[in-house]
Amino acid sequence: MREEEERVNTLEDLGEQAKGCTLCPLSQSRTQVVFGAGNHRARIMFVGEAPGYHEDLKGEPFVGSAGRLLSELLENIGMKRTDVYIANVIKCRPPGNRNPLPEEIESCKPYLLKQIELIKPKIVCTLGNFSTQLLLKKKVGVSKLRGQSFQVDGYVVVPMYHPAAALHQGGLLVSLKEDFSYLKTLLEAGIEPTRVSEQMTLF
Ligand code: URA
Repeated sequence: MREEEERVNTLEDLGEQAKGCTLCPLSQSRTQVVFGAGNHRARIMFVGEAPGYHEDLKGEPFVGSAGRLLSELLENIGMKRTDVYIANVIKCRPPGNRNPLPEEIESCKPYLLKQIELIKPKIVCTLGNFSTQLLLKKKVGVSKLRGQSFQVDGYVVVPMYHPAAALHQGGLLVSLKEDFSYLKTLLEAGIEPTRVSEQMTLF
């Protein structure tokens, strides 16, 4: 990825490059690469963890039950999936939906960072711990960070619970709905972050 990075000028180029990626062993078990989907000029981007069974088959992020919840939450705040861009920290399904390994995250990270650079969203909503910790560069659980926004490298990170977690724990669904209300408030207020990442005192 790094050697070819300079030749990548569009999201399409990057997607093509990702489709042929063999940087980690997930390339051998995947059905297809799940690069990302949505509006290439979105103001808001959502970043999940990794493709699951349905995403691996369809080649699109968040198309299973967690994806249906994500679509519903977007509709609740007057948005459609085509208004936003949706991606994951890692682009290939980990076998059995296990958590991504640190080395898988590391080798896939340049794809996500380049997606953000090309799309230039104003807000990146991180769904769950993996994307939150990667983009905030802090090993802190999302439960401590949700409900706040953080200025990072030209965009604002808004950590949220992962929709899949909310499907399994009803209490989290209430919180996730609050997270989306908070996002709506931020959008209406012109996206002023409540905190600057570097100034976080999280421990
Ligand atoms: N969970 C994720 O984190 N990403 C998907 O694409 C689907 C489920």
